[in-house]
Amino acid sequence: TTEIYTLSLHDALPILKTDGYQLIIDPYFSGNPASPIKPDEVNPDYILLTHGHGDHVGDCLSIAKRTNAEVISNAEIVKWVSMQGIKKSHGQHLGGGFQYPFGYLKLTLALHGSALPDGSYGGNPAGFLLTTKDKKKLYFAGDTGLFGDMTLIGEEGIDLAVLPIGDNYTMGPIDALRAVKLLQPKHVIPIHYNTWPLIAQDAAAWAVDVEKEVNCQVHVLKPGESLTL
Ligand code: NI
Repeated sequence: TTEIYTLSLHDALPILKTDGYQLIIDPYFSGNPASPIKPDEVNPDYILLTHGHGDHVGDCLSIAKRTNAEVISNAEIVKWVSMQGIKKSHGQHLGGGFQYPFGYLKLTLALHGSALPDGSYGGNPAGFLLTTKDKKKLYFAGDTGLFGDMTLIGEEGIDLAVLPIGDNYTMGPIDALRAVKLLQPKHVIPIHYNTWPLIAQDAAAWAVDVEKEVNCQVHVLKPGESLTL
């Protein structure tokens, strides 16, 4: 089974526990007003970075140095973390997949920026499409606007889509509903909202709207809650 914990409503994500492995995507704990835990409380085997922005790279370097977790991201970000002293990393790029011990991970398109915290070039932002060993397909959109090729991602048969709804920096609720229609996932978790007033959203109301129009279940998770697939 795969468990998805939301540690914050922001970058989610979550800690993902799948087949005995623990993954963290975009470990933004320090300075995150929505995070209930500290970076030294997590022990991931892998850290996945969708893009280079500070509120997504977050505590990646300190966690990876302490735990020896492998960092997975695009080739530019992986080169940057290596230069910061991270020993284990794996670079991929958009459209490319790789078979890890925890499953097959493909980098997907995302419409956003990706500059790193020190201004270094962070390549293209990405989302992640993870096929777990028990054949569940999990799509983490990352920070992105709506794009029509979500239809292609949806064609793979998505069990869970984790989508931003905060607006301003990413899709807002209206476009996120359109994204659900393109992706046709069985389950949806909204993220990247309520971290700051600028991206405040009513996720419960959004869930009602989505479930009215699309045959899927929306899970509005509070920090620390989890969903088991
Ligand atoms: Ni961003």
